[in-house]
Amino acid sequence: MSLLSGISKESVIGTAVLGCVFAAGLWAGSRQSSSHTGFQGAKNTVLGSNNVLLQYMLENSLREHPSLKKIRLKTVEHPYHFMMVACEQAQLMANLAKLIKTKKALEVGVYTGYNTLNMALLLPDDGKVVACDVNEEYANIGKPIWKEAGVEHKIDLRIKEAVQTLDELLAAGEAETFDFAFIDADKESYDHYYEKCLKLIRKGGIIAIDNVLLGGRVLNRTNDICGQVLHDLNQKILRDHRVNMSMLAVGDGLTLVFKL
Ligand SMILES: *[C@@H]1O[C@H](CO)[C@@H](O)[C@H](O)[C@H]1NC(C)=O
Ligand SMILES: *[C@@H]1O[C@H](CO)[C@@H](O)[C@H](O)[C@H]1NC(C)=O
Repeated sequence: MSLLSGISKESVIGTAVLGCVFAAGLWAGSRQSSSHTGFQGAKNTVLGSNNVLLQYMLENSLREHPSLKKIRLKTVEHPYHFMMVACEQAQLMANLAKLIKTKKALEVGVYTGYNTLNMALLLPDDGKVVACDVNEEYANIGKPIWKEAGVEHKIDLRIKEAVQTLDELLAAGEAETFDFAFIDADKESYDHYYEKCLKLIRKGGIIAIDNVLLGGRVLNRTNDICGQVLHDLNQKILRDHRVNMSMLAVGDGLTLVFKL
C-alpha cells in the first residue's frame, strides 16, 4: 500500500516531489547560472549546478538530439523545471539501453517527457516505451515534440497511478519482458516501483533509479519521509542478491540495477 493512498494526485506531486526538492534548497539560482553556458536545466547534487567542471563536462560530452533540446528548453520555462532528468544522465541511460538492445522500456514518472523521447529515439521502430504518470498536463508539453521527432508511435503514455499501471502489466503477463526501466516519480512509492519493475524486467535488464542522493537529504533523515525512504531503498539494494548494482554521482544520484 502506498503511504499516499487517499491523497489527491496534485498533492502527491506537491508533497512528494516538490516537497523533496524545495526542502533541499538546492535548486535556487540553478536555472539562471547554468543558462550562461547554454545548459539550462543542468543539475548535479555533488558538484553543484554552478560548478565549472560540470559545465566543462557537459560542453565536452553532450550529444543532445535537437528534439530533446527542444523539450529541455520548453521545460526550463516551466515552474517545476528542476524535476527534469539531467541531460548527461539521460545520455548515459540511452547508451546503456542501446547496449542491451532494449525493445521494451518502462518509465515511472514522465513529467514533460524528456526521457520518454530519449528512450523512444533509441528503440527500434517496433519498440515500445510504457510511460507512467498521473499528470497529463505536463506530458502535453513534450507530446508535440515526440510527434515532430517521428517516434510518437513507440510511446504508450498511461495517465494513472504508476503502481496501477505496473500491476496491470504484471496481470497481463508482461513480467520479465521489459529490458530497461527508469524510476523518477514520487519518492514515497519508490520501494513499490522498484519491486514491481524488478518483476517486469528480464534477466540482464537494467533499472535506473533517480534521486538516490536526494540533494543530500539521505544523510539527515530526521522528520524526512522522502530521505528515509530513499536511504532504506539504497541500503536494501546494496544487499539485494537479486541484482548487481552501481550508484553514480550523476544528476541527483543515480543507481543502476542489473537484474541477475
Ligand atoms: C537534521 O534535520 C533536523 C530537522 O530538519 C535538524 O533539526 C537538524 O539540525 C539536522 N541535523 C544535522 C546534523 O544537520
Ligand atoms: C554480480 O552478482 C553476482 C552474484 O552475487 C556476483 O557473483 C558477481 O561478482 C557480481 N558482479 C559484479 C560485477 O559485481
